[in-house]
Amino acid sequence: MKPVGHFVSVVTYTAQLKTPLNYFGTFYTSIQSSMINAERMLELMKTQPTIRDSPDAVSMTACSGKIEFKDVTFAYKKGQPILKGVTFTCEEGHTVALVGETGGGKSTIMNLLFRFFDVETGEICIDGENIQNVKIESLRNNMSVVSQDIILWNETIEYNLRYANSNATFEELVKACEAANIHDTIMGFNDGYKTIVGDRGKRLSGGQKQRIAIARVFLRNPRILLLDEATSALDSNTEACIQQSLKRLSHGRTMLTIAHRLSTIMSASCIFFLKDGRVAESGTHEDLLARRGLYWQQWEVQSGIYTQAQE
Ligand SMILES: Nc1ncnc2c1ncn2[C@@H]1O[C@H](COP(=O)(O)OP(=O)(O)OP(=O)(O)O)[C@@H](O)[C@H]1O
Ligand SMILES: [Mg+2]
Repeated sequence: MKPVGHFVSVVTYTAQLKTPLNYFGTFYTSIQSSMINAERMLELMKTQPTIRDSPDAVSMTACSGKIEFKDVTFAYKKGQPILKGVTFTCEEGHTVALVGETGGGKSTIMNLLFRFFDVETGEICIDGENIQNVKIESLRNNMSVVSQDIILWNETIEYNLRYANSNATFEELVKACEAANIHDTIMGFNDGYKTIVGDRGKRLSGGQKQRIAIARVFLRNPRILLLDEATSALDSNTEACIQQSLKRLSHGRTMLTIAHRLSTIMSASCIFFLKDGRVAESGTHEDLLARRGLYWQQWEVQSGIYTQAQE
């Protein structure tokens, strides 16, 4: 028979060994998952973009902001054309609107302007220069977009604003937020500009996120501004407030705006109505109403809905 002391020693040593063994176990699992993540990351970094600068691409420095689409055709999948010969011009400093049925290719036009894709045939020119001959980075530096889907990092509001312009001073951030009608709201938060916005900005409301996106545009100060359904998810008061900031933003810039609610684009210098991959009608709001065509039909439907809602 062994003495009791031996038994106690074995139990004590085993208990002491358990913690480091457990630790090695978790450590090993975490190393393994980190290795897998690192491999995925390296794979992603090796991916080559399909749209690249042409060898003789030039830098777009001074951009005045005239946009021309010349008989542009485009398809995401071969044989399923989305744009079948879109032609329109947006003069520098003017605000134009794209309207039309859902799935008609309005956001696709913006994707093509940003060169996320290249056109199949036809040309997109900015200041008369085909954008395929321009360095992509310099092209994108002259444009900003405010869409429904705003990307915010899980960081402070200040950090998210600086993403637009890392050289901006704090005074410039405040000025941009005042212009975007969001400064007072930010000051109402306990941590002010140091407030953490949460994953993808989930701690902010849709309208607040949109106003941060507008403040970012003020900080970037681009010549061309694209708005894709920027105010569609908002209540009427917030929308009126954001429309006011957008008006301020449009001064001295070319603005291309996409909207389903026609009441938001009535003052555009020209409205293009897209149908079946082409511009079916164009003109000012009054011109298009007088024409009694597709735009007029949509206007009638929408004003009917709004009149009923108000009753
Ligand atoms: N990345 C993509 N890959 C393949 N097809 C796409 C892609 N993006 C859009 N599409 C298709 O292209 C068509 C046009 O889409 P687009 O987003 O341009 O329409 P839209 O006019 O902006 O519509 P909405 O008014 O609903 O925003 C749709 O049929 C859509 O399914
Ligand atoms: Mg769209």
